[in-house]
Amino acid sequence: MNIVVGITGGIAAYKAPEVVRLLRRAGHAVRCAATDHALQFVTRVTLETVSGAPLYNDLFASGGTEHISLREWADIVVVAPATANCIAKLASGIADDALSTLLVATEPHHVLLAPAMNSGMWRHPATERNVAILRSWGVSVVGPESGALACGTDGIGRMADPAAIVSAIDGIGCGVLSSQRWLVTAGPTYEKIDSVRFIGNYSSGKMGFALAEALAEAGADVDLVTGPTSLAIPSLPRIHRVDVESAREMLAAVEAVWGECHGAILSAAVADYRPAEQADHKIKKQGDEGLTLQLVQNPDILATLGRSKREGQTLVGFALETDNEEANATAKLRKKNLDFIVLNSLRDAGAGFGVDTNKVTILGAKGGRWESGLMTKREVAQTIVRVIMKAEV
Ligand SMILES: Cc1cc2nc3c(=O)[nH]c(=O)nc-3n(C[C@H](O)[C@H](O)[C@H](O)COP(=O)(O)O)c2cc1C
Repeated sequence: MNIVVGITGGIAAYKAPEVVRLLRRAGHAVRCAATDHALQFVTRVTLETVSGAPLYNDLFASGGTEHISLREWADIVVVAPATANCIAKLASGIADDALSTLLVATEPHHVLLAPAMNSGMWRHPATERNVAILRSWGVSVVGPESGALACGTDGIGRMADPAAIVSAIDGIGCGVLSSQRWLVTAGPTYEKIDSVRFIGNYSSGKMGFALAEALAEAGADVDLVTGPTSLAIPSLPRIHRVDVESAREMLAAVEAVWGECHGAILSAAVADYRPAEQADHKIKKQGDEGLTLQLVQNPDILATLGRSKREGQTLVGFALETDNEEANATAKLRKKNLDFIVLNSLRDAGAGFGVDTNKVTILGAKGGRWESGLMTKREVAQTIVRVIMKAEV
């Protein structure tokens, strides 16, 4: 790929040459574009040497059209680090120097920002609003991370590691899913026992919400059908959220849109069973007696979609296995007519229900196998979307 690395005036600019070095080592052609303030932190000589190309810094040099020729040359513009100022300017369409003019000339799906700043600047309502606006337009954002900051405090604001930035470049789809509609299910289901009690599970919905975001960032319109969760809707206008409670409600919501979708990723933890009878009043305690609940099977949503899958549709399921994990997941993939199955690990600390991180193995119907390391659920979601988009199933 042809990649422009934009550098703005933050202390993390000293890591930009490493981003450039890793990109070139991975076989990409790189041009650097730096703001005047960035050149207070890292020199022109360093950037030109590591990229092997002249720096773009002067809007009026080379006849003043380099922002257009660079935009046409670049498959992606990565800004690392991206200052609060650069983010604010892009969210407002301000183009008052070489890099900001290039950014405004570039389609949002082709831009990746790696913000780096003091925690207060990152949490400022203006920055939060600006990042949300940029995401809603399709700009991708990697990091920032928490840790020691240059200002001497600990907190969120550190630029993502150069290696994570390079992985994020592979992860963004540059709008390849635009004009596609995808379905995602998330969260648990609640199966009613009586008017105040239910059978549920510990699923938080975080993985499904991250998948919806990753698909929307790749340009797709997403129907996010979610069981009960405290999560706020991702701030992307292309995500349409439908709230449901039980497995049967989830099936109805899913069947209503599946025929129109290019694909579906079903990550919800759907209850296999529900009480055979659901009392419409609170069941009273009966003396010292126990209570026996009769359970009946719920519909299998994944298998239902697998049976009605048409040519060209992609169906992705999740599996949570404790024994013979890959063999059982492969059997499920075949039985339910899936294209991919994502095997969740419960053995690794930091993976599975409730936590912010996950580790998965993705198995494809044609024998493909991909492993994510232990990553944030957002990074795992980007990995899954990348595999689905690029893999020969
Ligand atoms: C020593 C120093 C470190 C700075 N670090 C950051 C930073 O990490 N992130 C940030 O958003 N701004 C940082 N700033 C402020 C920016 O340099 C300032 O907002 C500048 O206008 C950004 O210009 P640019 O976005 O055109 O490069 C820093 C300023 C100084 C003097």
